Amino acid sequence: MRAAELFRSRFGGTPDGVWLAPGRANLMGEHTDYNDGYVLPFALGQAVTAAAARRAERQLTLCSRQEPAAAVQIALDGLAPGQVTGWAAYPAGVAWALEAAGHPVPGACIAIDSDLPAGAGLSSSAALECATALALTELAQTELAQTELTLTELALPQSAGLTVPRRELAAIARRAENEFVGVPSGIMDQSASLLSQAGHALLLDCRSLETSQVPFAPAAAGASLLLINTRAKHDLSDGEYGQRRAECEEAARRLGIPSLRSLTTPAEVDRLADPVLRRRARHVVTDNQRVLDVVALLSTPHPPPGQHGPVDVYRDIGRLLTESHASLRDDFEISWPEADATVEAALAAGAFGARMMGGGFGGSVLALMPAAGAGQVRQAVTTAFARHAWTEPEFLDAVPSQSARRLTSLV
Ligand code: GLA
Repeated sequence: MRAAELFRSRFGGTPDGVWLAPGRANLMGEHTDYNDGYVLPFALGQAVTAAAARRAERQLTLCSRQEPAAAVQIALDGLAPGQVTGWAAYPAGVAWALEAAGHPVPGACIAIDSDLPAGAGLSSSAALECATALALTELAQTELAQTELTLTELALPQSAGLTVPRRELAAIARRAENEFVGVPSGIMDQSASLLSQAGHALLLDCRSLETSQVPFAPAAAGASLLLINTRAKHDLSDGEYGQRRAECEEAARRLGIPSLRSLTTPAEVDRLADPVLRRRARHVVTDNQRVLDVVALLSTPHPPPGQHGPVDVYRDIGRLLTESHASLRDDFEISWPEADATVEAALAAGAFGARMMGGGFGGSVLALMPAAGAGQVRQAVTTAFARHAWTEPEFLDAVPSQSARRLTSLV
């Protein structure tokens, strides 16, 4: 509840509510979301929290424990892309995108706290967007409830002011990031933060936007999942991410298909004469298949003891993780030295498998190992970093957790 404390110290008074939105890890399917493909993320226990209260003025006042500078003031009337920069562009963009979608946004004071390391590829930005989106839509709901007017009298759409469906909130948060902040990301991170269930990974088909919950509890099978923040910071707005996206679109155009999702076998990419585009397309088609393979493994009923059992399932998933890393490193060319060294050290120390995660060029590695071997993997990675004289890596738990929610009742 440090966000509520921050609210009290910066704004005085008590917040109307506190909302939490988790960061995400991604088990499989990288750079597949904007290619209409499959992804398999899950929500983390680490999250952004937002303590918020309505205010009479048409203004947002934002402060963050991680950004010690003065609070940021944003006028809601006339808000447009380009007006707000830095971290506050994410919540401001959500207010803008909500209003653009016809949802009323009240003036509010919002105090933000986070235990998600920024730039670690764990979607702290999407978590900030989703926490703000939930806070603003629920505050709007109480504001409407306090007026004498009904929704019909206000001539608002049925969903306005009432809880906005989460899929729609995910699309709104993504629009904020794409059009207000200017980062051309896909729909995976916001979907993971808003639609995940504890103990499950979220299978999302980014073409139909259909989702299903895939039971995912490595600890129960004697396996351990570790996130390793390599401390090489990534930034999706640095151009490399957008370049990969453009290359994928160009590959689809040359193949005469609506998106790389239409590819079903790696052999089909051989029709591309350009070797770079061929490699990019091969990564996408093979990673899509790996998502389906992981889902099939997780969906296999556990056989009787002594046969191919739960730990073997995680060994197989580990192998797919490592294959995905090779594809991201060699075909998509977005890995970075700290990630390659982490994967190598983890495998040498007995991990089932490991891969870089997220947009690339920095951030975190996801490693899967027998629970009893987790200490050895940490040690091996720490030693590898020391040998290169890199800043010590950070190890984080990766527990498939519940999606975004309100933590306190509305007053
Ligand atoms: C970032 C983007 C996502 C996705 C991943 C790569 O996290 O925000 O939309 O493209 O990179 O899989």
